[in-house]
Amino acid sequence: MNGYGLARFFLVGLGLLALAACGERPIDVESLKKEPKKYVGSDTCKLCHLEHYDSWKMTLHSRGLQDAQKNRDVIVAPLDEKVIRADLAKATLKIPVEQVYIPKEEDIKYTMGGQWKQHFLVEKAGKLYIAPIQYNVDSHRWVPYDEGDPDWDKKPWNISCGGCHATGVNIEKNTFVEPGVGCEACHGPGSWHAALPKTAVFEKRQTIINPTKLTMGVAMQICGSCHTRGESTKVKGAAWPVGYQPGKAIGPFFKETTFAAGDVKMVYANEFAKGHHQQYLDWKQSAHYKEGVTCTSCHFVHTIGMPPTRSQTVQAGSKQCLTCHEIINKNLAHSIHSFGNCIGCHMPRIAKSAESGDIHSHVFVCLLPKDSLANPAIPNSCDGCHVFRGEGLEYLQAAWDALVKLPVPVGQPVKMAIPETEAPKEAPKKAEAAKKSPKK
Ligand code: HEC
Ligand code: HEC
Ligand code: HEC
Ligand code: HEC
Ligand code: HEC
Ligand code: HEC
Ligand code: HEC
Ligand code: HEC
Repeated sequence: MNGYGLARFFLVGLGLLALAACGERPIDVESLKKEPKKYVGSDTCKLCHLEHYDSWKMTLHSRGLQDAQKNRDVIVAPLDEKVIRADLAKATLKIPVEQVYIPKEEDIKYTMGGQWKQHFLVEKAGKLYIAPIQYNVDSHRWVPYDEGDPDWDKKPWNISCGGCHATGVNIEKNTFVEPGVGCEACHGPGSWHAALPKTAVFEKRQTIINPTKLTMGVAMQICGSCHTRGESTKVKGAAWPVGYQPGKAIGPFFKETTFAAGDVKMVYANEFAKGHHQQYLDWKQSAHYKEGVTCTSCHFVHTIGMPPTRSQTVQAGSKQCLTCHEIINKNLAHSIHSFGNCIGCHMPRIAKSAESGDIHSHVFVCLLPKDSLANPAIPNSCDGCHVFRGEGLEYLQAAWDALVKLPVPVGQPVKMAIPETEAPKEAPKKAEAAKKSPKK
């Protein structure tokens, strides 16, 4: 062991001793609370919540921003300049293709994403910037980001993306505590909570945000602080709610995007999301919002043990819907198809992350062909599948209208609890008649 190693060994030992001593000392919560609450990072939470940590590690939240200097493997596709320029040449660009900046792998400080697409951050004069190229994972396609903008190195990353992809971002100091969506992005800064000894269960609970213990509105705004689109009310040009913290209302910090207010790029004319990360804006327009069916009714953020799905849903596919909507009458829309693809109709993929149609609508309303016929700029739930059958919107709407006019099919099992007192009057008569009538 060299001198440095020895010193470290000594320090770690001291730290452990301090921790042990901590358990003995009476808790002085009041003096602890005199210090400002700080972010400590998910690795600190791991010390006591290993299972939550493991499960969170499997989710995309832990990958919102990844350090490519520590681990080059986070880059999902080789940055082959020839291949990239050949792809870029097919797109609309602000400058000639040979002038678009393409980073070298060793210059990439961080990656963003890897599920639908990936972006690459490089550093200039101590600040991070988004390189003007993007890799689309499923279609294996390089596309320009911001049309290959030559001014890419004039828009600091922390202002345009920061707080939604990293935790504890401080724009003024140009720092963040942890890359990705760490524990504290949803639970708030945890220095008080982490400092208390394990045995101080009550004080522990009082010093950290548990979303289930908040009112529904404020709890959902935690998810809504990132799964949204709009602009900061505090920092000009910032696209995230600078200054917001879990447990607080988001209103004072953020102005949400709407079509009505002029954002035709990210929202359809019916206010359904066209851009990605707008689930909260969609959901707020839904019947689910009104009835208290929230993000966490359908999504887990961490579970104990193996996750049920890799898209953080409590159940796979349409089973998810059937856990609550047990009975879907086989009439109208629900009689046409031989399969019950609830998500296909009620959550059409009409928003875009990498390629158009890779993100689900969260308004949960089935868009009919007539919605698109009235305004071609509004998509529908049907032609995504029916285009392959060569059926036009007029035909589909006509078939739909004809079906809607049909009476409710007879003989379909309709599960209804009939209260005893309202039992059909003919029943006893029939029974009596049966008694009276001679046997055949
Ligand atoms: C020194 C151990 C320790 C550390 C470090 C720690 N916790 Fe805890 N945490 C606990 C204990 C003990 C409880 C109380 C368990 C109970 O309620 O039965 C708790 C409870 C919680 C709760 C539930 C609170 C409630 O009201 O139900 C949350 C959420 C939580 N911790 C998150 C975190 C986060 C986030 C971090 C990192 C910033 C963290 N913890 C760090 C020990 C720790
Ligand atoms: C994306 C938001 C989010 C992130 C990130 C997150 N949590 Fe949670 N956490 C929640 C929500 C919401 C709940 C409420 C219970 C639920 O719905 O699972 C919760 C509940 C908890 C609880 C209370 C006990 C329980 O299981 O209900 C603990 C402890 C906890 N989280 C620890 C952590 C730790 C440790 C991390 C990081 C490794 C973390 N959380 C990351 C949102 C998050
Ligand atoms: C600090 C910002 C932030 C907060 C708060 C946040 N998310 Fe996320 N969420 C993200 C980002 C960023 C991603 C995508 C990360 C990536 O792919 O690199 C994501 C991804 C997801 C996904 C996609 C999972 C998949 O595999 O397809 C779900 C579902 C999700 N979040 C639900 C929630 C819920 C529910 C909450 C609230 C309890 C929440 N998020 C809070 C930023 C956030
Ligand atoms: C208001 C919060 C917010 C801001 C600001 C934001 N993002 Fe995201 N981003 C998210 C969320 C949430 C997701 C995951 C859900 C989705 O895409 O629908 C996501 C997804 C992504 C993905 C795809 C992740 C994957 O795994 O494929 C990339 C790449 C990305 N963002 C890059 C950026 C860049 C670059 C910026 C800045 C120019 C930025 N984001 C700004 C919230 C945000
Ligand atoms: C009624 C159930 C339900 C509710 C409520 C719900 N989601 Fe989803 N969400 C889903 C389903 C189903 C998917 C598709 C999952 C898949 O591809 O397997 C999904 C997908 C996602 C994705 C991944 C992107 C995509 O389109 O595939 C994100 C991110 C997400 N939801 C975030 C949220 C957030 C944030 C909220 C709350 C504002 C929310 N969801 C509310 C059911 C729901
Ligand atoms: C946690 C329970 C729960 C889950 C899971 C759930 N729903 Fe719902 N849903 C409700 C409740 C409650 C209502 C409001 C009362 C009602 O109309 O039945 C509702 C209403 C609806 C409506 C009526 C919308 C309107 O405008 O009247 C549709 C459509 C719907 N849900 C579709 C879905 C789909 C699709 C899924 C799966 C992705 C799903 N639901 C998952 C509980 C749930
Ligand atoms: C062919 C497309 C289609 C499919 C598949 C579909 N729905 Fe619907 N559903 C509709 C339409 C259209 C309506 C009328 C209201 C609307 O516009 O959302 C509707 C209405 C509803 C309602 C509102 C109450 C009612 O019965 O009128 C619920 C709840 C619902 N669907 C749930 C589901 C569930 C759960 C599944 C999967 C088993 C499913 N739907 C499959 C198109 C569909
Ligand atoms: C997930 C893919 C999918 C979606 C979404 C979908 N369909 Fe279909 N549709 C099919 C398939 C496959 C068939 C034939 C097999 C069957 O009936 O199951 C079909 C059959 C039909 C039929 C029967 C008559 C015919 O033309 O063959 C009608 C009418 C119809 N769909 C209308 C609609 C309408 C209207 C919508 C939107 C509200 C819609 N579908 C959404 C896949 C889909």
